[in-house]
Amino acid sequence: MCAIAAMALSGCAPKEATPASPTLDEVFTTRRSIRAYEAGKTISEAELNELFTATQNAPSWANQQPSKYYVAISQEKHDAVLEMIGGNRERVLNAPVFIISTFEKGKSGFFRGNQANDLGDFWGAYDNGLSNAYLILKARAMGFDTLIMGMRDADALRALFSIPENEVITAAIALGYRAQEPRMPTHRPLDEIVKYF
Ligand SMILES: Cc1cc2nc3c(=O)[nH]c(=O)nc-3n(C[C@H](O)[C@H](O)[C@H](O)COP(=O)(O)O)c2cc1C
Repeated sequence: MCAIAAMALSGCAPKEATPASPTLDEVFTTRRSIRAYEAGKTISEAELNELFTATQNAPSWANQQPSKYYVAISQEKHDAVLEMIGGNRERVLNAPVFIISTFEKGKSGFFRGNQANDLGDFWGAYDNGLSNAYLILKARAMGFDTLIMGMRDADALRALFSIPENEVITAAIALGYRAQEPRMPTHRPLDEIVKYF
């Protein structure tokens, strides 16, 4: 401990308060699709590794872990992705990182190479969505913001990142810091989406 007077004499600096981690409910309610990002901010590779490590906790069919991520951190790839997301371009111009999400076909929903039930590779998409959910929620918990973009040019992204043909490209995800507070979207009433029996 450092008394104020002693601090001045010894140069002992006060410790910066560590921000408290948000609760799960705070993460859920403050996570929104962000369509304007602060310019000039960066995200480190260590932070990205923390983010992707969180996705490894997501459940998947027979622990097949079919999700993969291709991450644009260089200026060259960042600028190239901007031209492959159609009308989303202006929304994510200042997001420092773009993440391309894919899943490997023939893993989730398959048993010894055979489709296990009616859904087949849809289970890969299911697992990929779970993994993406972990990603966007962990991002919010770390103070970042995201936009999932289904409007993207999959063929161009496949060529840019040399993504193999056995992987299905799902979303491009922008990652950055919000430049404006989003509006809470309307949500369907519970009794429309949940039936208790
Ligand atoms: C699969 C998927 C694709 C989406 N594609 C886009 C997109 O291309 N552009 C966009 O601005 N928002 C896109 N969104 C964001 C949705 O519009 C958004 O999640 C929804 O309106 C609810 O708002 P919220 O995320 O703030 O809760 C997408 C979301 C998902 C899950």
